[in-house]
Amino acid sequence: MAKAPKSTYVCQSCGAVSTRWAGKCIECNEWNSLIEETRSAPPPGSGISRTTRAKERDLESLDGDELEAPRITTGIEELDRVTGGGIVPGSALLIGGEPGIGKSTLLLQVAAAIASAGKKAIYFSGEEAPAQVRLRASRLGLSKSPVGLVAETNLSSIIATLEKGARPDLVVVDSIQTLWADNLDSAPGTVSQVRAATQSLIRFAKNAGCAVLLVGHVTKDGQIAGPKVVEHMVDTVLYFEGGQGHTYRILRAVKNRFGPTDEIGVFEMVAQGLKQVKNPSEMFLGDRDKEAPGTAVFAGIEGTRPVLVEIQALVANSPLGTPRRAVVGWDSNRLNMVLAVLSARAGISFAQSDVYLNVAGGLRITEPSADLAAAAALLSSHTGLAIPSDQVIFGEISLSGAVRPATHTTTRLKEAQKLGFKKAIIPDGGDIDSKALDMKIQHITHVKMLAERLASCQ
Ligand code: TYD
Ligand code: MG
Repeated sequence: MAKAPKSTYVCQSCGAVSTRWAGKCIECNEWNSLIEETRSAPPPGSGISRTTRAKERDLESLDGDELEAPRITTGIEELDRVTGGGIVPGSALLIGGEPGIGKSTLLLQVAAAIASAGKKAIYFSGEEAPAQVRLRASRLGLSKSPVGLVAETNLSSIIATLEKGARPDLVVVDSIQTLWADNLDSAPGTVSQVRAATQSLIRFAKNAGCAVLLVGHVTKDGQIAGPKVVEHMVDTVLYFEGGQGHTYRILRAVKNRFGPTDEIGVFEMVAQGLKQVKNPSEMFLGDRDKEAPGTAVFAGIEGTRPVLVEIQALVANSPLGTPRRAVVGWDSNRLNMVLAVLSARAGISFAQSDVYLNVAGGLRITEPSADLAAAAALLSSHTGLAIPSDQVIFGEISLSGAVRPATHTTTRLKEAQKLGFKKAIIPDGGDIDSKALDMKIQHITHVKMLAERLASCQ
């Protein structure tokens, strides 16, 4: 008698498999995340067969005449930069982001750009009916571009469609959570389904040499839904993010097997879809209040590109025993560290004050060189003395109060100069090419000097 299929319980958060149900996953401690799944045949096109025989393989050397991976350039420069110079044929790319951020819009624009360049692009829509996708295409002015549109969520049908006719160059699947393989019992969006769908599509991409772009939903904590395993399977993971109430969007690579992960692409969502923003600094500094105390302009670097942003601070007397600290766009631990260093090393205490810090425009900064600009904004709000509006600041603060040199000093300063800034407070050292710059540069080595310099600017 054939054995009944055995059930396993799969955590929808981390992908851990257990043989018994429990209220809490023992791997990731997530509650209510185990879902029963029945073991069955592997998904179609996954290439896994239970009868595969072991084969002896020859060893190869690392030294071969492999060429640099060829790229499909999309013509959308911001996307090409983030992917490291274009999408690599045969690779799989996952793009995650909040609902309504513009994932479908971006990928439709990419598919249209590729199709208009004479390549074959197919767009599988699992969420929207063809009429909805057409409506979007007409809003974007792309109705005439020769993208093949298919509304399908069944994995076997998708693979069959892909294998029919000429080999596609680019396949968009919107979204991976809507796909289902008919040999799995679990619902679409569960770990097994998402994993099976990703596996089959990656296999197709590798065999056919076409690029596959997958849309992934994000959970409430901003992670791509489904287990991390999907992020591990694909070659590139991009996140599409944007400040609430802002029209611009930032595309960021968090994993890239074919390029760097520190580049960003900046877009603006307008009535005709996503428009590229060639000079983000101008946009982030758009409408700042130049006279107000508590603001400092930080000359930052995102990847290879300089980006200037305004850091705003508000220091107010606190009515509370434990004063409030709130940060938007920066790490709150970093704020606490800067406050502690200012207090211990420069004797300026914020213990009786509420402190609020905001990166204007909704950008999220992760660079340590923002420390000095944040400290300057805090000091300016504390003293009520405005920082000159044509001054940029950057530098990392260490716990001893010393200010450490930053990378790409000249690039940052050149960008500031281009935007009309005349002065800079920067750390000592660093690769500075003073011939290329016509700015008044003040070097500082300790946070104590920052307070003095800011007071003497007036
Ligand atoms: P969409 O691409 O559907 O987002 P996602 O796939 O990430 O859920 O984008 C939807 C939002 O974008 C919607 O709120 C309207 C806005 N939008 C524009 O402002 N202009 C446009 O041309 C388009 C197509 C969408
Ligand atoms: Mg969508």
